[in-house]
Amino acid sequence: MDVLQLQDYPIFIGPCEEALSHFLGSHPYGEVFVLVDENTEACCLPRLSGVGELAKAVILRIQAGETFKNLDTCSGIWRQLLDAGAGRRGLLINLGGGVIGDMGGFCAATYKRGMDFVQVPTTLLSQVDASIGGKLGVDFHEVKNSIGVFANPRAVFIDPGFLDTLSFREVRSGYAEIVKHALIADAGLWNALKTKQELAALSWIELIPPSLQIKKRIVVADPFEKGLRKTLNFGHTIGHAIEAVSLQAAGPLLHGEAIAAGMICEAWLSFSAGLLDRLDLEAISTYLIQVYQPQPLSASNYPAYLQLMRNDKKNEADEINFTFIGPPGTAHVNQKAGEAEIRASFAYLNGRLGDQGLG
Ligand SMILES: NC(=O)c1ccc[n+]([C@@H]2O[C@H](COP(=O)([O-])OP(=O)(O)OC[C@H]3O[C@@H](n4cnc5c(N)ncnc54)[C@H](O)[C@@H]3O)[C@@H](O)[C@H]2O)c1
Ligand SMILES: [Zn+2]
Repeated sequence: MDVLQLQDYPIFIGPCEEALSHFLGSHPYGEVFVLVDENTEACCLPRLSGVGELAKAVILRIQAGETFKNLDTCSGIWRQLLDAGAGRRGLLINLGGGVIGDMGGFCAATYKRGMDFVQVPTTLLSQVDASIGGKLGVDFHEVKNSIGVFANPRAVFIDPGFLDTLSFREVRSGYAEIVKHALIADAGLWNALKTKQELAALSWIELIPPSLQIKKRIVVADPFEKGLRKTLNFGHTIGHAIEAVSLQAAGPLLHGEAIAAGMICEAWLSFSAGLLDRLDLEAISTYLIQVYQPQPLSASNYPAYLQLMRNDKKNEADEINFTFIGPPGTAHVNQKAGEAEIRASFAYLNGRLGDQGLG
């Protein structure tokens, strides 16, 4: 069992039953609640059956999926806590992906001015990204994560065993954040990853700790996103726009699938700004295309992508704010690109897809 210590809470990495049991045994919580959705109730809760301290825990159920990450669902969670007589001395265990972690954490941090919670992330994305850093919240009126707070859990339990029941697409989606962490902060990790095409052959128990170390280092240095934390946005300015547009279409993309395409475009912008070598750009795009096999971006969507990027309040006039990389393992925040360059980055992605006969 690896233990990473953040400022005021531990992250346990490895089979979680014993660590969770020890945590519950050494903390005198009045009541314990476990928040699940239908998938984590079926696939993940049984993996905690050996935790005797959970025998009397109350199970709180919500429906799975981003569409339920809203205040109505919070209302249901707060209602269930009240009905069960939860006091501030209770503990909420969030057993699920980033949706459960963000929303359950938000509900706990605000219930009766704050009850303790722990994160037990069960998707790769939540294990390497969402479960640490203290950002909690829900979507509101179609705007993602627009209502929320910063608050820390008492502990995080990361058990790669949960990934056994996760679909290949969901695992691959979370892997995009591991690639991103390498590209912005760890050249050695990027050099190791870029030779690995077969995700099924990767050892998550080996890859999760270095990736978490990177996110930990960044959020500890900049908890409220004043500077360094913006490096985590690499691939996300364009990626979020691609993700949002895809959600209106018949075949929506998962977060990491859109971020992979966004990283290719933003690597091109980094190259165009003189920060990234052509060879590195080619290596990054070749690797991400092989792993994610993105579809070409339709030119009819370009205005929608640009509009979504402009709506981001951080942008002034016609320039859009980005995090660029270069050389791999280093990142540059507060970089700007105009519409023509952004369109050229879409064209670069599409050109590369044409070269490889994909899409
Ligand atoms: N707080 C942060 O810093 C941060 C960072 C990145 C992402 N996020 C948030 O995370 C969310 C996305 O998280 P996600 O990708 O984990 O999605 P998710 O929570 O929707 O989980 C994906 C799907 O997998 C199912 N599932 C979860 N674990 C499973 C398991 N072990 N076996 C089988 N099925 C399982 C879930 O029920 C769901 O249907 C977004 O809302 C995003 O905003 C937050
Ligand atoms: Zn992301």
